[in-house]
Amino acid sequence: MEKSELELVFPPEAIAERVQAVARDIEAVYGQDPLLVVCVLKGAYAFFADLCRALRNPLIELDFVRIASYGHGTASSGKPVFSKDMELSAQDRHVLIVEDIVDSGHTMELLLGEFRRRNPASLALATLLDKKERRVRDVHVDFRCFEVPDGFFVGYGLDYDEKYRSLPGIYTLSLPGQA
Ligand code: IMP
Ligand code: MG
Repeated sequence: MEKSELELVFPPEAIAERVQAVARDIEAVYGQDPLLVVCVLKGAYAFFADLCRALRNPLIELDFVRIASYGHGTASSGKPVFSKDMELSAQDRHVLIVEDIVDSGHTMELLLGEFRRRNPASLALATLLDKKERRVRDVHVDFRCFEVPDGFFVGYGLDYDEKYRSLPGIYTLSLPGQA
């Protein structure tokens, strides 16, 4: 049987360098203002942990959401289905959403829409990977580590069927039977 093939795209050192640079960009915007940084589980866990520790503001607050994967049937409801919602309030806070990858943009469009309804003082999006050429929804990415072409990426939080999240680098995965 053919095996899945991993090809290294971004080694840990390259990721660390970009995370630091993005942290400096975020600091340039928020300075020492209070900031609520929200991790979109599970994929963003590694990026979120490194990014938060790279921000030189000990007063940032952290929270977590998880969006359940849904079939096409419920996607039109306009509301993300949270399998875990935040514990802190987003109202009147500067909120920074941290995501693993923005692909078509559907997920972030729903999530950002829901956060806007909570009346934050401001709302911004940071993503590890931006698959810009695949975008079908107009989602504004404020901070990104890497723009990537179409393909399937795993590692540093990103999974395929819950596997590969723990890899310290980012890889493309080609599955048996695929070109
Ligand atoms: P979107 O709604 O099409 O933007 O999809 C975003 C979600 O799909 C991300 O939050 C990921 O969970 C998943 N996803 C999209 N592309 C990849 C990939 O290359 N590797 C792993 N997960 C992906
Ligand atoms: Mg995700």
